[in-house]
Amino acid sequence: MNVDKIREDFPILKRTVHGKPLIYFDNAATSQTPQIVIDTIVDYYSNYNANIHRGVHTLSQEATDKYEEARIKIQHHFNAKNAFEIILTSGTTHSINMVASGFSSLLKKGDEIIVSALEHHSNIVPWQMLCEKTGAILKVIPMNLEGSLQMDVYHNLVNEKTKLVFCNHVSNALGTVNPIEEIIEKAHQFGAAVLIDGAQATPHIKPDVQALDVDFYVASAHKLCGPTGVGLLYGKEEWLQKLPPYQGGGEMIATVSFEKTTYAGLPHKFEAGTPNICGGIAFGAALDYMNSIGFDNIATYEEELLHYGTSELLKIEGLKIYGTTAEKTAVISFNVGKIHPYDIGAILDKLGVAVRTGHHCAQPIMDFYKIPGTIRASFSFYNTKEEIAIFITALKKAVLMLS
Ligand code: ALA
Repeated sequence: MNVDKIREDFPILKRTVHGKPLIYFDNAATSQTPQIVIDTIVDYYSNYNANIHRGVHTLSQEATDKYEEARIKIQHHFNAKNAFEIILTSGTTHSINMVASGFSSLLKKGDEIIVSALEHHSNIVPWQMLCEKTGAILKVIPMNLEGSLQMDVYHNLVNEKTKLVFCNHVSNALGTVNPIEEIIEKAHQFGAAVLIDGAQATPHIKPDVQALDVDFYVASAHKLCGPTGVGLLYGKEEWLQKLPPYQGGGEMIATVSFEKTTYAGLPHKFEAGTPNICGGIAFGAALDYMNSIGFDNIATYEEELLHYGTSELLKIEGLKIYGTTAEKTAVISFNVGKIHPYDIGAILDKLGVAVRTGHHCAQPIMDFYKIPGTIRASFSFYNTKEEIAIFITALKKAVLMLS
């Protein structure tokens, strides 16, 4: 992989912050955007901006074709059996809420839902709301100190009352890659449906939804070099047929009268209103871009960055890393002594380094470790060891100032 050449694709990497070259290590929050995706967005608004599925005019047809081509790119990327199993949403949170809302008519009091202790708030709160509505009970797969799931407990939690299991493919706060194959297989032995939140996995791993046999897989384009405000809900056809629509509106209907409305087929049943047309098309362009680099190359290179970053950080006295499993993506969450993560983050910013600080929308993980939050450095394929070395020097400076 020619990283110098890849970096040329990202105009933002040329900018400075507080007079220092930008070092962008907040990729788990959102990835940067390559020129080809920016060009796709400009091309859409410059040349064929129109509403889709609605017009006989040329612009509308061009936009519709490009949008549906993007859906097929997404289908192929995730290896879904059918393009209509790809619902384009505004992102992972929207996708999860669609499934949670749909299940409110399928669950009854006493049914059980399992989530993991490693979830982002977006994969906790919608299920709590679902439990409040239906009387279903939420159970939690606990975590170990190194940031992995207690799978023996999971195997005992699943039973005939279990209707749904939710887990992230990769933890946003710690980078842990979860054993989703095992989770899915066990849930299916009891007929429970499984939703995997792939928001943090998809920038590093190319998932195969058919091989996984997963019922729902959700992700966001903006973590994958695409724009914000667009993502996907993959659902197996049988589940998407069973779930009621999430929103009523235009484009999700077959016929409407004041007496009765019938719904459109998949995927339109779940796509009421004008979607993020440009975003969907740019999502397709972002997948093309990432596939042109290759996910095997990305994984190998990012692992190098992870090992280098981890070993250099551990040389700093008092530094503790949270999330130390062997199966990790290039995310390092840490604290230094008793220094508040926010204070370190603010000084790093002054030195040109962007990291995320805080609870990372995963408060239960922070409660487990009894900490207010962490500093999280998350790497991407366009980062370099040189940037990590500058970050380490900046971090040492920050620690010295705050000790
Ligand atoms: N979920 C995103 C993160 O982990 C925003 O930073």
